[in-house]
Amino acid sequence: MDVNAVCRHWWGCIYDQYEHGTEDVKLLLDLIGPAPRNVFEACCGTGRVLVPLAQAGHSVAGMDADEGMLARLPAKAEGLENLRYSLDDALRADWGGGYDVVVLGDNTLMNIEHRDDDQAAQRLFIQKAAGALKPGGHFFLAFDHYPAPEKVFIGKSKLMKGHYGGMDDMGVSGQIFNCGGLYNPVTRIAVWASHTELTMPDGEKHIISGHGHKYVCTREDVHGWLKDAGFVIEEEFGGCDRRPFAGKPGWDILWARKAYANRALRESGLPGTWENIQRTRHPDAAKAVEYLESHWREDFDPEAVARSVNMSVRQLYNLFSHHVGMAPKAYHQKCKVEHIREKLADKNLTIAEAFAACGEDSRGWLRKVFREMTGMSPREYRANLK
Ligand SMILES: C[S@@+](CC[C@H](N)C(=O)[O-])C[C@H]1O[C@@H](n2cnc3c(N)ncnc32)[C@H](O)[C@@H]1O
Repeated sequence: MDVNAVCRHWWGCIYDQYEHGTEDVKLLLDLIGPAPRNVFEACCGTGRVLVPLAQAGHSVAGMDADEGMLARLPAKAEGLENLRYSLDDALRADWGGGYDVVVLGDNTLMNIEHRDDDQAAQRLFIQKAAGALKPGGHFFLAFDHYPAPEKVFIGKSKLMKGHYGGMDDMGVSGQIFNCGGLYNPVTRIAVWASHTELTMPDGEKHIISGHGHKYVCTREDVHGWLKDAGFVIEEEFGGCDRRPFAGKPGWDILWARKAYANRALRESGLPGTWENIQRTRHPDAAKAVEYLESHWREDFDPEAVARSVNMSVRQLYNLFSHHVGMAPKAYHQKCKVEHIREKLADKNLTIAEAFAACGEDSRGWLRKVFREMTGMSPREYRANLK
């Protein structure tokens, strides 16, 4: 018998017994609106959020690293052809692209499972959310705000018996114990020991030991990471009832939009680029920019861009010259470079893998364009990242 697999199965069942809140799902549905959208949830667990979203008509995709959690999904998702999910580590796996909405709810940000640097993992998730969204798409991020973490996490040193416990559908009963909590106010890292006691249907007992750790991120951290990833916060709530965020212990819920123009473009400082589009709000220019940003992975096709705004190629070039300040092809290259920059921020990838993840060869033509646009080689760019 694989005790760890039994434990994962047990935990999936118990999670479902304890966690069936719908308030955050209602808020999310309200923010998304009635039109069907493409939604991705990283760390979708047992489908508490995904299933009602699919039932509301949205096309949803989820990813989770825990097979015990995902095992709960098929029964709930029966008949929902607009729901798909995969078993994967969301830190390493490709989230795909072109989504209207990316969801990271239920304080998952602070509970991302990985072996190394909690803070880097949180930042990477936010960058990955930006990479998976189409320009103008939205990121729903709900995390716990801890104004006094020492009170919460040092409290874990008391034995937390009975927080999660019960029997699963195979007759396995169990209980999770957390104890020995420590919190370092300098690093903002909390650690604690945990163990799960399981009793099999035949009375055999097993103890599965583990430990927990998290970087207790601040609101400033999260706002800064969002800004760096090219998000603009449109809404911030202190609760699912849309009450304003007031710095109290509890939820910090953010609804952030991925800016239409990519960060490289905004930061390029070229006169007449993004600021110009904002100022004139020229609808065709904005639409063509959006088209290029969503088709960055494909080869540049001026006819297709022109068709997207019902123009000739010549008219398109004139439009870009007046309202964007660079040729459509250069804009397309900038989009590619920006996506490569995002991938280079993931230090789990080699430079060749970062290029390959964007469909490019690191020794190909884009390397030269990358240097022209950023003033650095990909290796120098990575070395300069904090
Ligand atoms: C608190 S649960 C939230 C589940 C669901 N989002 C909800 O709101 O009910 C956190 C989930 O994140 C998943 N998770 C944590 N780190 C992960 C990672 N690196 N890759 C994929 N899933 C991860 C866990 O397996 C767990 O199912």
